[in-house]
Amino acid sequence: MRGAISSPRHDVPVGMLEGRVTGLSGLSVSLSGLRDFTGVGDRVTIYGLDGRQTQAEIVAFQQDIAIAMPFGSLEGIGSGCRATFQLYDQEQRRRRAGGTLMVNAGWQGRVVDPMGRPMDGKGPLPSEGTPQRLHASPPEAAMRARLGPRIDLGVRALNLFTTCREGQRLGLFAGSGVGKSTLMGMLARDTACDVAVIALVGERGREVREFVEDDLGPEGLAKSVVVVATSDTSPLMRREAAYAAMAVAEHFRDQGKSVLMLMDSVTRFCQALREIGLSSGEPPATRGYPPSVFAELPRLLERAGPGLMDEQGHAGQMTAMFSVLVEGDDQNEPVADAVRGILDGHVVLERRIAESGRYPAVNVLRSLSRTVPGCLTEEENQLVLQARSCLSTWDEMQDMVRLGAYRPGNDQRVDEAIRVAPAVEEMLKQRKGERATLPESFDALRGALS
Ligand SMILES: Nc1ncnc2c1ncn2[C@@H]1O[C@H](COP(=O)(O)OP(=O)(O)OP(=O)(O)O)[C@@H](O)[C@H]1O
Ligand SMILES: [Mg+2]
Repeated sequence: MRGAISSPRHDVPVGMLEGRVTGLSGLSVSLSGLRDFTGVGDRVTIYGLDGRQTQAEIVAFQQDIAIAMPFGSLEGIGSGCRATFQLYDQEQRRRRAGGTLMVNAGWQGRVVDPMGRPMDGKGPLPSEGTPQRLHASPPEAAMRARLGPRIDLGVRALNLFTTCREGQRLGLFAGSGVGKSTLMGMLARDTACDVAVIALVGERGREVREFVEDDLGPEGLAKSVVVVATSDTSPLMRREAAYAAMAVAEHFRDQGKSVLMLMDSVTRFCQALREIGLSSGEPPATRGYPPSVFAELPRLLERAGPGLMDEQGHAGQMTAMFSVLVEGDDQNEPVADAVRGILDGHVVLERRIAESGRYPAVNVLRSLSRTVPGCLTEEENQLVLQARSCLSTWDEMQDMVRLGAYRPGNDQRVDEAIRVAPAVEEMLKQRKGERATLPESFDALRGALS
C-alpha cells in the first residue's frame, strides 16, 4: 500500500498545452501559444487539416514564437492548425528529454526506423525493457573503463594494418562505390562481437534492401540491429537515426556485451544537422555548415567506446566504425577533418585500388590505428613494419620498375619490395563471405613476406 502511494505514475502527463500554427516556411513551422513551458528539443504534436498527426521538435524560438521541425512531411498542415504539448513534472521531463526507445534482446535481427518502428514487415517489436534515451550523454570520462583486448575484425587488411582493441573508434574514409557497404557487411558478419548495430543514415531506399539482403545476409542480420532513415526522410529523422542506433548500442553495451557499431555515414548525419541549423536561423560558417554541427558531432562520436565498469571490474565495450564520404583528395572537407581529430584511427578506401581490382580497397599506408603497436606482439609488430616498408617502397618505385628504369641489384630495399610487395597485395584481397581471423591474418602475412 505504502509503495503505491509513494511511487506516483511518472509516465502520465500532468497537463496539456495547446498552441497554433502561425506560419510555415521551408522545412519549419512557427507555433504560438507554447512559450513559458516548452524548450528547445521538446516534441509537439501538430494536427493537420486531414486529421493526421505529425510529431515535430522545437529547434528555436523567435520572441514568443516557437520554431519547430516536423519528423514527417508538412503536407496538410496550414496556418491555424492545432499543436499540443504534453506537460510532465520536472523529474520526468529530465528523464524523457529528447525521446526514449524501449530496447531489448528481441531487436536483434530486425530493421527499425529511428522511432523504433519495424521496417522489415516481421511484425511488432517486443516492448519490454528500460527506456533508453536517444540523446544520452557519453559516460563520465574518468569513470569509463579502458579499451578492452584486441578485437578480431575478420578482415585481413584491417586485422593486420589497423589492429583494434574493443571499445576503439575508427573512421572509414571512402568515396562512393569503392566498397564501403560490402566492407561494413563483412565486418558485421565476421567481427568477434556479441551484437552489431548498423545505422544507415540518408542512404537511398533501394540500397537499404541491397545492404540487408546481399551485404549483411541472414547470418549477419541475426546478430544485428539495423536502424534506417533513408535520404527522402526529414532531416530530423536522419539525425535521429544516428542517435537511435547509438541508444541501441548503449543498451547492449551497458549489459556488459561487446558491441560493434557501424554508422554509414557521419557525413549525412552532419548534412542533416546542417539542414536543421540553417532552418532554425543559424548562420552558415564552414562550407555551409553552421557551428552547431561541430559542437554536436563530438557528442555523438564520444558516446561510442568503453562503458562504465561494474563492481567486478567488467565493462561492456562499443567498438565503432563511422564512415565519412570523401570525394577525390579533398583535404578541406570539414566533416572529414573534424572526425579525423576525434577518433582513434582511420581506414582509407581508395578508388585507385578498387579500380585495380583489389577489394577491400584499403590503402594500408594511409590507414592507421592509434593503439598499434600496443596490441601487437614484438614479432607481429616486426612483420607489419616490414610489410609497410615494402609497400611504401613499391608504391614509390613501381612505375620505374615497370618502365625498366630500375636495374635489379642497385638497392637491396627495392629488390626486397619487388620480391614481396605483389604477394602482400595479393594477400590483402578478400572476397565477401571469406572470413580471416587474427591468427590466420598473421599467418597469411608471414607467408607473403617469406
Ligand atoms: N570484397 C569485395 N570483393 C569483390 N568485389 C567487391 C568487394 N567489395 C566491393 N566490391 C565491388 O564493388 C562494388 C561496390 O561496392 P559497394 O556497394 O560496397 O560500395 P559502396 O562504397 O557502398 O558504394 P555506394 O557509395 O554506391 O554506396 C560492388 O558491387 C562489388 O562489385
Ligand atoms: Mg553503399
